[in-house]
Amino acid sequence: MIKEKEMEIEQVKMETLEKSQAWFESLFEKSEDKNDIKHSRQTVAWVKKIKPEADEALLVAAALHDVERAIHGDWKAGSDDPEALRKHQDLSVQEAEKFLLSHGADEEFIARVKHLIASHETGGDEDQNVLCDSDCLSFFEDKALRRVKRWKDQGKTKEEMHKNMDYYFSRIITPEAKELARSFYDEAKEEIESEK
Ligand SMILES: [Fe+2]
Ligand SMILES: [Fe+2]
Repeated sequence: MIKEKEMEIEQVKMETLEKSQAWFESLFEKSEDKNDIKHSRQTVAWVKKIKPEADEALLVAAALHDVERAIHGDWKAGSDDPEALRKHQDLSVQEAEKFLLSHGADEEFIARVKHLIASHETGGDEDQNVLCDSDCLSFFEDKALRRVKRWKDQGKTKEEMHKNMDYYFSRIITPEAKELARSFYDEAKEEIESEK
């Protein structure tokens, strides 16, 4: 009986992740840039890799961490200004909270998702760091090379590009996550040096 109850609770939790992902993807389906859908899925996948025992709230936070972009647009445009990062995190917290409340998630669960999203750009406690590192890993896996190409089109110098890429790498918190990102980082650094 207890086992059945546990399974039931587990089922409800899984539904929250699935519903969150479906909601996130439906919002971004309407936007021109589909990269955010990939980014959300990859961030969830990196969380599972870094912390296989991650709880549902951490996975939901990974899925929804950038959700405000679907609603408020890409107003931040890659800015690393602390004020912009704060606002971006807070807006995502608000949108995630509204969604979870309307889908019957409990208070404790919502508080934990909010806590995790609130520091996804900077990390903080252990699970906030897992989310921050997973977000960074997805950036290196999928976006770093494209970002270099964009910088080249914008006429940035090699020095500026290396500095920016090093900044992104410096945001990864744990040595283990840095090792996982290393090959993507090296590739991006090579791309900066290539003449194309
Ligand atoms: Fe973000
Ligand atoms: Fe992100």
